[in-house]
Amino acid sequence: LTGHVTLDFGYKNTGATKSAITFLDGEEGVLKYRGYPIEELAEKASFLEVAYLLIYGELPSKETVEKFQKDISMHTLIHEDMKKFFDGYPSKSHPMAQLSSLVCSLSTFYPESLEANQSEEQKNETIIKMLAKMTTIVAFIYKKSLGHPLIYPKNKYDYITNYLWMTFGQRTEDFEPNPVVVSAMNKLLILHADHEQNCSTSTVRIVGSSDCNLYASISAGISALWGPLHGGANQAVIEMLERIKEDGGDTDKWIAKAKDKNDPFRMMGFGHRVYKNFDPRAKIIKKACDDILESLGINDPVLEIAKKLEQAALTDQYFIDRKLYPNVDFYSGIIYRALGFPSEMFTVLFALGRLPGWIAQWKEMRENKEPIGRPRQVYVGDVDKHL
Ligand code: SDX
Repeated sequence: LTGHVTLDFGYKNTGATKSAITFLDGEEGVLKYRGYPIEELAEKASFLEVAYLLIYGELPSKETVEKFQKDISMHTLIHEDMKKFFDGYPSKSHPMAQLSSLVCSLSTFYPESLEANQSEEQKNETIIKMLAKMTTIVAFIYKKSLGHPLIYPKNKYDYITNYLWMTFGQRTEDFEPNPVVVSAMNKLLILHADHEQNCSTSTVRIVGSSDCNLYASISAGISALWGPLHGGANQAVIEMLERIKEDGGDTDKWIAKAKDKNDPFRMMGFGHRVYKNFDPRAKIIKKACDDILESLGINDPVLEIAKKLEQAALTDQYFIDRKLYPNVDFYSGIIYRALGFPSEMFTVLFALGRLPGWIAQWKEMRENKEPIGRPRQVYVGDVDKHL
């Protein structure tokens, strides 16, 4: 048996997950959130509007999104005792390890999130807290990595500006967010917000299907995203481009390595489980990359290497035969680096963007009263052995 089969052993249908949140067509390179094309949302919506759309199913009115922002602002502080966690991590701990454990630990400070039979209001408050506290935790992880004083949230800022204030702000300086950076973050977070049943989202759904609380389910998704074949690819892409630059920028040599079955090297940022055409997000990010670097007056040599790799891959039969196109991770790291982030933070930023999608999918699974996840198997082992 290969590929996807629906095996029914009298259990509930073990077929594909049914969802009304995100539609993607891998052959046509189409991606829609609740029916809206990603291209329109990335150009015209705010990340918070898209988060609301994914989680609650409709684009919010001006009043609704203002209330959503206000509700979130009321919950951006984390318990002061959470700062003690940072004292336990070794100085060079990977931010994804910290993020996964800190998010899971939110359930210890908000035990109401563990209660059975919560009211809609209680469930919604947990969702608001998860969205609100993620920005603070991500910013605190970054500040701690630098040994800088933590910058606390300010309610006068919107979601993204508040995150940038906590990340790049200094207690001793006024903070004037660069509109180019705010706009770039808004677009990048929208492009990462959901992607149907990818590895980390499926993890969130299956952990949540055991009636596990939202914080622990999101924590499991963060761990799945960390892998270099998944969200960790954005960090791996930049490290690969740096390696090629250090090696003299000979992209043909590295394309040959990627094709060599005896060489473990893979072209990070290329290929996809579903897109067998261009990843629509990669197209948008590639254009944004050119615009942002030009606006910020940055000439990043790895961008030229990335473009040479892409061009070489698009004309190489190995890549063409396997439909290996640049994916969402190929250019995003170049933008994050231009915005001032170190590569270890790139996957954390992917998680910040993907959070509303994870929440939406967890909520849908719970509202659909789906049974506990129990993937079946085709047994291929021994059947009749004796001691
Ligand atoms: C994300 O699912 C999602 O939606 C994920 C995501 C999201 O938004 O949640 O889109 C985010 O995870 C994007 C993917 C980021 N990962 C990378 O960029 C890592 C590099 N890419 C590959 O490892 C790979 O392409 C995967 C993991 C993304 C997809 O793997 P598949 O579909 O299982 O492909 P495969 O491993 O079966 O490969 C098919 C062929 C193989 O060659 P043959 O055996 O046919 O000779 O293609 C080759 C592979 O060796 N191949 C590559 C390659 N990717 C596949 N060869 C060189 N470089 C690559 N990157």
